[in-house]
Amino acid sequence: MAEILRVENLSVALRDGTEIVREVDFTLRAGEVFALVGESGSGKSVTALALMRLLPAALRITGGAVHLQETELLSLPEAQMQRVRGRRMAMIFQEPMTALNPVMRVGAQIAEVLKLHLGLKGRALRQRVIALLDEVGIPDPHIRMDWYPHQLSGGQRQRVMIAMALACEPEVLIADEPTTALDVTIQAQILQQLKRLQQRHGMAILFITHDMGVVAEIADRVAVMYQGQIVEQADTRYFLTAPKHPYTQRLISNALPQKALKPAPKNQPLLQAKNVRVWFAQRKGLLQRTIGHTKAVDGVDLTIRPGETVALVGESGSGKSTLGMAILRLLALTEGQLLFDETVDLATLSERQLRPLAQGDSGDFSGSLFGAQPPYDHW
Ligand SMILES: Nc1ncnc2c1ncn2[C@@H]1O[C@H](COP(=O)(O)OP(=O)(O)O)[C@@H](O)[C@H]1O
Ligand SMILES: [Mg+2]
Repeated sequence: MAEILRVENLSVALRDGTEIVREVDFTLRAGEVFALVGESGSGKSVTALALMRLLPAALRITGGAVHLQETELLSLPEAQMQRVRGRRMAMIFQEPMTALNPVMRVGAQIAEVLKLHLGLKGRALRQRVIALLDEVGIPDPHIRMDWYPHQLSGGQRQRVMIAMALACEPEVLIADEPTTALDVTIQAQILQQLKRLQQRHGMAILFITHDMGVVAEIADRVAVMYQGQIVEQADTRYFLTAPKHPYTQRLISNALPQKALKPAPKNQPLLQAKNVRVWFAQRKGLLQRTIGHTKAVDGVDLTIRPGETVALVGESGSGKSTLGMAILRLLALTEGQLLFDETVDLATLSERQLRPLAQGDSGDFSGSLFGAQPPYDHW
C-alpha cells in the first residue's frame, strides 16, 4: 500500500544534548494502524510531538526527516506547518480536557477547525459539525454541540476530540494513548469506532499505547520503543506470537493474564449463578403503583470454582454491584438460582443457615457480611 508518512532517523534531545529519541525510522501506509508501544518514558509521546512539530521548549529535534507524501515537514516554515496540522495530520491525546477549551462549546471548537482549514461557514458549517459528532457516536448532536466539555462524559469528550481530529479528513491521525483514561467498555467502543472511521476515510493511524490488548485489537503493525529507540518492528501477528527482542518478549509475557493470576483450577464449581434476575419496581403516584421495572440484572449465568478469581467487568450502571449484592443475599432475587457447592440453593436459605457458609475459608468477609453494616462501600 501507498506510503503516507516516512520517518527517517528522527532524533530529539534536551537542550543540554541528552538524547531522548534516537534515530527513529518507520513508515505509515494508507489505511493501516501502526502501533507504537513501550513503557512509560520510552519516548513515544516525544516522537509524536516531534512529528507534529509541537515539542515543548525544553526539547528540540536534532536530526532526521519526516516526509508526509511529498512534503518534508521538519524543514517547513512554521506558517506552512500550521496548514499541515489539523488539516493533513491531526493528533488526539490521552486526556481530552487538556486539548479542549473548557470555556468554549464543543461544536464551536470543531467549527473553528473547519473554518480555518476548509473555509466552511453558515449552514454548511453547522451541518458538518453535526455530521461529525454523529459519526463519532455522540447522541443528539444538534443539542450536544452547544454543550461545554465539562457537561460531557470522559468518553464523549474523547469522541469530540476524535471528531475534531477527523474534521478535515487528515491523511495521518496520531492517537497518543487515546483510550487509556477511559473505562474498558467505553475504550472498546471507541477503538471499534476509530477502526471504522479509519476504514471509511482511508487514513493512516499512528496509535500509541502501552496496552498489548489494544495492540492485538487494533494494530496491523507494531514498533516497540525502548529508551528512545525502536528495537523491533513487525506485523502484529508475528509480534504477539514470536517477539524477537528480549525487551519485547518481557513486555508481552507481562501482559498475558496467566502470568499474573493463578492457573485456573479444574475443580467442580463452588458457586453457580443461574439465570439470575434482579428487577426493581418503578413506582408512581400516591398509591405507589408499579409502572414498570428496572432490570438491573437480567438473566446472568456465572460460575466460580474454588481458588478462582472471576473478574466482573462492565461500565458503570451495568449491574455488577447488584449481582454481587444478590449473591450475598443483600438483595432478593427476582428469579434464578444461586448454587453453593452444587447442591445448596442460597436463595432459599434462611439467614441463620447462610451464616456458616459466609464464614468458611474466606475469613476476611466473615462477620461483617451479614452484620449490622452491610459492606456496600466495597462496591
Ligand atoms: N518537557 C520535557 N522536558 C524534559 N524532558 C522531557 C519532557 N517531556 C518528556 N521528557 C522526557 O522524555 C522521555 C520520553 O518521554 P515520553 O515521550 O513522554 O515517554 P512516553 O510517552 O513513552 O511515556 C522521558 O524521559 C521524559 O522524562
Ligand atoms: Mg506518553
